[in-house]
Amino acid sequence: LQAFFAPKVLRGKKLLITAGPTFEAIDPVRGITNLSSGKMGFAIAAAAQAAGAEVTLVAGPVHLPTPRGVQRINVQSAQQMLAAVQSQVGPADVFIATAAVADWRPANTADQKIKKDGSGEVPALAFVENPDILATVAQSARAQSGALYCVGFAAESHDLLQHAMAKRLRKDVPLLVGNIGPATFGQDDNALLLVDAQGHRELPRAPKTELGVQLVQELARRLAAAPG
Ligand code: CTP
Ligand code: CA
Repeated sequence: LQAFFAPKVLRGKKLLITAGPTFEAIDPVRGITNLSSGKMGFAIAAAAQAAGAEVTLVAGPVHLPTPRGVQRINVQSAQQMLAAVQSQVGPADVFIATAAVADWRPANTADQKIKKDGSGEVPALAFVENPDILATVAQSARAQSGALYCVGFAAESHDLLQHAMAKRLRKDVPLLVGNIGPATFGQDDNALLLVDAQGHRELPRAPKTELGVQLVQELARRLAAAPG
């Protein structure tokens, strides 16, 4: 009902959102992942849909229901997430990267379950770096021309503002949203730091569902101010 009465500030806009962790397989029964719950990304997706946007959500393995009216694509690995994003980003007006993408994946995935051989020896894991989905999208012609507005997220353990400012420039995105610690992963509440070229502003601690609504309002203002 609340969603029904939400002002349609994103009417006609197409949003693409990544959420949750990725899972990088070691063998058919094991892998590497992280504790991201996907709640922030799903909350933004729900709020954007309620605000009249057409929303596609690319989700890593999370235990969350799909928000009403949202198109959801499930993926496991960072490579799959990148492929799904690239297949969907064409018509998007906004790309929001909330996913906690694994920075590295095992260099090799075993076809069969790795077994103990009885000697007590442990397997050695080698890693390779995953593609940076946000940076890849942010370098595209549509993002560079301003037709696609890109938003990054950052979870830092210390010096949030400095890291968020540096990350915004490194990723080349107009808006970087920092999670104000400690340990936001899995929590229902969060506090956010919005960092752009002009400066920074805090969204005080609130339920992620409420922060999703505030971020959508923030986005609507920014899209209205920008050309295209
Ligand atoms: N991101 C991404 N693909 C990756 C890594 C990160 O799309 N392979 C996105 C995240 O979704 C987030 C932003 O980049 O929006 C920042 O992610 P973060 O992990 O904080 O930054 P990294 O560049 O990976 O640096 P580090 O983890 O070393 O702080
Ligand atoms: Ca990272």
